Amino acid sequence: MTTESKPTEKQDSKANQTEDITSHEYDGIKELNNPPPYWITLIFLASIAFSMFYVIHFHGYPGNGKDQKSEYEQKVAAFEKKKAAMRKEAGGGIELSASEILAAGAKLYTDKGCMACHGLEGEGNIIGPNLTDNYWINGCSEEEVTTMIREGKPEKGMTPYKNVMTDEHMEHLTQYILQTMIGSEPANPKDPQGEECQ
Ligand code: HEC
Repeated sequence: MTTESKPTEKQDSKANQTEDITSHEYDGIKELNNPPPYWITLIFLASIAFSMFYVIHFHGYPGNGKDQKSEYEQKVAAFEKKKAAMRKEAGGGIELSASEILAAGAKLYTDKGCMACHGLEGEGNIIGPNLTDNYWINGCSEEEVTTMIREGKPEKGMTPYKNVMTDEHMEHLTQYILQTMIGSEPANPKDPQGEECQ
C-alpha cells in the first residue's frame, strides 16, 4: 500500500468537505454546509420573536396606555393629584403668608417700574407723589389704593396697570404700600400732597 492510497488526515477532512457542499454556487464559489449550533439558532429566533412583541408594546397600540397621548394624560392626572394633595395640605388653597405678600409687593414695585415715578423707596419725585407719608390725593383705603393702581389716572400721569398685572398682584402692591411704605421715612421725601389719612 502506497502513501497515495492512504490519505493523510488533512486530505481526509478535505474530502469530507467536498461531500458536504450545499447546492449554492456563484462564480465558482461554493458554500460549505456548516450551520451554526442549534442553541445559537434558537436564541436568534427567540430574539426575533421578542423584538416583534417589544416593538408593538413599546410604541403602543390603542388601549395599552403607552402611546404619547395616553402618557401625557397619565402625567397630567398624576400632577393634578399631587396638586390637589398640596392644596388640601395648605388648607384649601395655596395662600401666601403676610410676609410673602409684602415681599411679593416689594418685588412688583421694582419689577413693574413704579419707582420710576414714585422713587426707589416710594419717596416720590418730580413726577409722582410720595407714597411713604400719610397724605393722599386719591384716598388711603385699600380699595382706593388698589383702584389707583388698577385704573391709574392717565390725565395726571399715573399709569393704569389693569392690563399688565393680575388682581392678586395689585393687592400685593397695595398691602406693601399701606403696611411697609407708609411711615418708612426715606431720605429726600417729596412734600406731602392731598389730605392726611385719618
Ligand atoms: C409714569 C409715572 C408713574 C408710574 C410708572 C407709576 N405712577 Fe403711581 N402715580 C403717578 C402720578 C403722577 C400720581 C399722582 C396722580 C394724581 O395726581 O392723582 C400717582 C399716584 C399713585 C397713587 C396714589 C397716590 C395718592 O396720593 O393718591 C398710588 C397708590 C400709586 N400711584 C401707586 C403706583 C404703583 C404701585 C405703581 C407701580 C405699579 C405706580 N404708581 C406707577 C405716576 C406714576
